[in-house]
Amino acid sequence: MKNQMSPIQWPAEGVTRAPYSVVSDPAIYRLEQERIFRGPVWHYLCLEAEIPEPGSFRTTYIGETPIIVARDKDGGINALVNRCSHKGALLCVEPGGKRQNFTCLYHAWSYDLTGSLRSVAFQNGIAGKGGMPPDFDISQHGLERVRAESFRGLIFGTFGAAEDLETYLGPGMTALIARAFHKPIEVLGYHHQVLPNNWKLYSENTRDPYHATILHAFYPTFKLNRLTMEGGITLDHGGWHSILFSKGATFRPGEYEGTGIRSLIDDLRLADASLIESRQEFDDGITVAIQSIFPGLVHQQIYNTLAVRQLVPQGPERSELHWTFFAYKDDDPELRAMRMKQSNLIGPAGYISMEDGSIGGYVQRGIAGAGSGVNAVIEMGGREIASTTSARANETAIRGFWQAYRSLMGL
Ligand code: FES
Ligand SMILES: [Fe+2]
Repeated sequence: MKNQMSPIQWPAEGVTRAPYSVVSDPAIYRLEQERIFRGPVWHYLCLEAEIPEPGSFRTTYIGETPIIVARDKDGGINALVNRCSHKGALLCVEPGGKRQNFTCLYHAWSYDLTGSLRSVAFQNGIAGKGGMPPDFDISQHGLERVRAESFRGLIFGTFGAAEDLETYLGPGMTALIARAFHKPIEVLGYHHQVLPNNWKLYSENTRDPYHATILHAFYPTFKLNRLTMEGGITLDHGGWHSILFSKGATFRPGEYEGTGIRSLIDDLRLADASLIESRQEFDDGITVAIQSIFPGLVHQQIYNTLAVRQLVPQGPERSELHWTFFAYKDDDPELRAMRMKQSNLIGPAGYISMEDGSIGGYVQRGIAGAGSGVNAVIEMGGREIASTTSARANETAIRGFWQAYRSLMGL
């Protein structure tokens, strides 16, 4: 497909190839901000549990655009662009908290929790001199509002004409969200990390079961996850979103022999095995489920660690990953202690996720200088885009990602 306005030409092979320039070209990056991040796409913003009461707020992003999500005094959820209407200053710099209004540091214009402008400092000047013109109408200068919807306590926003949120997610995705968010949660804590790579390299990573037990040595070594376990890949919305899942109880020893995988040392033992003590919380037997919602939300269960990850683009070769760890309010003390201990598995320094924080940088460095026409090869598991309950040596979810990307970008 060739678009007159397109900065690149997609390879003729389609989604089994992705041009390396797509993760480094500044023109592509700018086009994404318009077509994906301001386009007909839902973007995860925060959890309802983070804004429980009137006046509670979180600051977040849609693409590069800073956003405030605030609960107003009637309990409504307001997603607002975090940008003062006067000169564009960032209005709210804290990650979250509780407020009655948002008052700009620069000249003290003040907005209520729904984003309406309530007061302008010195609007009438001083002793009748200066101030705003008499016809200045503060009702016309509120914060830009963003359409927001919530599903099972996950709040999403969109600048574009996206379909309703539940349709956007699709039945396969809403089922896993409903499974995790089936009772009240509370946030345990946060991690933020800078990724030295384009946001799409991380989007590929969480759709890639092929690397999981190879790059992450901890997984197969301590038998938490192997490709030979029962599991699968569920796609939805035509491949835009995916779930990679596995069932730890189906571990069978010995099946990685002869693969040359560096991590497989069968007699290695943890000095303190309580790190990976876990409890089966869900009756479907799934112990690892990584759900990727296009473009930048990851919702995960890894044994008893529950978390959402928000991917924030910050330029062609940099992004940020915001982790929010959660638990159920009614956890018994033993389960809560397990969750806290297992949280060492994930996050920027997590035993099974730290490598993802640098591998995208390896790709970014490796493709430097690649000319046009040099492409990634995405043929593992075939060339189609389809759910599967076997063969997790498969890149079908990555092909699904690129299909979504191409359709939105017109590439
Ligand atoms: S920039 Fe916010 S009040 Fe002037
Ligand atoms: Fe990974």
